[in-house]
Amino acid sequence: MTRVFSGIQPTGELHLGNYLGAIRNWLPMQHETDAVFCVVDLHAITVPKPPGEVGADSLRLSQLLMAAGLDPEVCTLFVQSHVREHSEAGWLMQCSVSFGELSRMTQFKDKSDQHDFISAGLFTYPALQAADILLYDTDEVPVGEDQRQHIEITRDIAERFNSRYGETFVLPQAVVPAAGARVMDLQRPDNKMSKSLDSPKGTVNLLDEPERIEKKIKSAVTDNDGEVRFDVDEKPGVSNLLSILGAATDRDPVTLADDYHQYGALKVDTAAAVVELLTPFQARFAELEADPGETTRLLRIGADKARDIAATTLARAKSNIGLLAD
Ligand code: TYM
Repeated sequence: MTRVFSGIQPTGELHLGNYLGAIRNWLPMQHETDAVFCVVDLHAITVPKPPGEVGADSLRLSQLLMAAGLDPEVCTLFVQSHVREHSEAGWLMQCSVSFGELSRMTQFKDKSDQHDFISAGLFTYPALQAADILLYDTDEVPVGEDQRQHIEITRDIAERFNSRYGETFVLPQAVVPAAGARVMDLQRPDNKMSKSLDSPKGTVNLLDEPERIEKKIKSAVTDNDGEVRFDVDEKPGVSNLLSILGAATDRDPVTLADDYHQYGALKVDTAAAVVELLTPFQARFAELEADPGETTRLLRIGADKARDIAATTLARAKSNIGLLAD
């Protein structure tokens, strides 16, 4: 059976980009594949966090994922730091990637511009991500467009390790959705929608109330020529609305443009589609939030399942390197 693995950082809220670019595509995979999903708390601490925040965010993100439709009884859902094999394999990966390769990572360049304290962990972040993926003999990694480069470097690391030490890791493939792979900020449509952009009016959070969602989408930046057309370079704002509406209603953004002759109607329909998508999600989240003990129990089961797989792969990697057996 195809093994799928993906991860997401516990940074406060989930936004529409995370949902349309990644999580929504994870849902059918739970039933069609052997799917493993990870709340990557160790990645989140590559930038400084106030004490306690990352744990609370991990619990909340797990509940958000379950509210979105991940069923921990069907897939494997766990928190990265609960399976210590990730940290150990991360070191092996760091020794199989070069300084030059890590220096070319665009996520590192973007994030290091946003922080005064640039941790070594932020630089070696892709090595830990490679460990996440390779520990599970992963065939497919469903992610948004921005993660392609990290999946490519994971393949390079796996190939290098295999050629040095013999067949050890499966080479994974990125799976990027046709619609919603790159949701842009509503106010600054040249930038991807992102928590770290700090653009509250440009970011639709999954827990925003309907009125708030409508307000943000109606005040989205467009342009002055008035023509509804899908053209990411010339018309980034309008194209972003078409992409969001297309992803939310399963339609092709290019043909969708023919239905509209003015921006107002496009915004009204986009807001309505997003509200419709998120209303049932918000109701489920409220139920889950009321019972943190149950979430913790489910995460423990997920970590046990994950550890079984990860420990086997890590033992194989260590043995192939030829580390002295303990
Ligand atoms: P993260 O936490 O930034 O994002 C989680 C997922 O959401 C997608 N995404 C988007 N998709 C479309 N439009 C956007 N504006 C947008 N913003 C985010 C991301 O592509 C991602 O799929 N490094 C990863 C986490 C990670 C991981 C892994 C992923 C750690 N280990 C192993 C896959 C496999 C990250 O920072 O994602």
